[in-house]
Amino acid sequence: MVLGTKGLPPRAALMQLITASWVTHAVRAMAEIGLADLLAAGPSTAGELAEATGTDAPTLARFLRALAGLGLVAHDAEGRVTLTPLGEPLRADAPGSLRPYALAITGAPVERAWHALPGALRTGGAAFAGVHGLGLWDFYAAHPEEGALFDAAMTGSADARSGILPATVDLAAVGTLVDVGGGQGRMLAAAVAATPGLRGVLADRPEVLPGAEAFLTAAGVRDRCDLVAVDFFSAVPTGGDAYVLAHIVHDWPDAEALAILRACHRAMAPGARLWIVELVIQPGDAYDRAKLLDLLMLVLFGAQERTEAEYRALLEEAGFDRIAVHPTDSPYSIVEAVRP
Ligand SMILES: C[S@@+](CC[C@H](N)C(=O)[O-])C[C@H]1O[C@@H](n2cnc3c(N)ncnc32)[C@H](O)[C@@H]1O
Repeated sequence: MVLGTKGLPPRAALMQLITASWVTHAVRAMAEIGLADLLAAGPSTAGELAEATGTDAPTLARFLRALAGLGLVAHDAEGRVTLTPLGEPLRADAPGSLRPYALAITGAPVERAWHALPGALRTGGAAFAGVHGLGLWDFYAAHPEEGALFDAAMTGSADARSGILPATVDLAAVGTLVDVGGGQGRMLAAAVAATPGLRGVLADRPEVLPGAEAFLTAAGVRDRCDLVAVDFFSAVPTGGDAYVLAHIVHDWPDAEALAILRACHRAMAPGARLWIVELVIQPGDAYDRAKLLDLLMLVLFGAQERTEAEYRALLEEAGFDRIAVHPTDSPYSIVEAVRP
């Protein structure tokens, strides 16, 4: 059972599912008007918040009432509004802020693609490309402002997976770690910072590297990292003892996923390790967020989340062996493979 449907009779539970996007819209609007940032300074009245956000005070008061019902804000004894721990990550300056994710993943380009889900079910192809005439990465390259927001969204949502390498695998024996499609470098920065002597290589599309450079500099690890512009279908940097693909393979259908794995295989020396960081779909009918993320991958990329068996099959086809799946203390797993 999911999304507050537990214990409800079937019709009421169904209504909850049908109207789940009302919650999404409210959270998005909260992020858009910067409410969490204003409340970070302390409790405010609805009138003060209306003035600061340029909104209509009585209407904002209704909005705040709904947000309080969702647990994102609360009213104190004087009726002033405070930010709750649930709303806290929507602050732009919160560590691992989810504000960019709330804005990007519910933004119009993605929403329009969701509306084309029934078409994607018929074709198995990406709804996004059908709606926008461009694949997601080309779309963001052509719309740099939205692209920057998406990159920031990935950095924020990477919070749950950023620290899992040092917590799960042995980095002490790794001289150089190559993060393929590393985005802004959040995971690489955490690995390098936690491992004395480790060098990092961040490989991503050229337009992503300036943001990554700024992130790695702010994280204090820029001097131990190289940044390399790549198209990971053609080639990835050589010389790594270990390679990580975090939230990459799920962005692609099998043929493209295989091409990325083969590019890694070509670049890797015998004995080098590959770590795929993904949600691995569990068998059975239980609620599993990965099953919904799987639909987002279909909508955005014509791609998919995978089961352990599906990861094993891809890795074997790309020429890897000694495949093992490591659970982590996050929802993500690390699928490990060795280049023979
Ligand atoms: C979903 S993000 C994951 C970022 C990061 N690894 C993380 O865990 O948050 C996918 C990344 O793949 C990169 N990417 C997409 N196509 C690429 C290509 N052809 N070559 C290199 N990187 C690419 C994107 O720029 C983006 O940074």
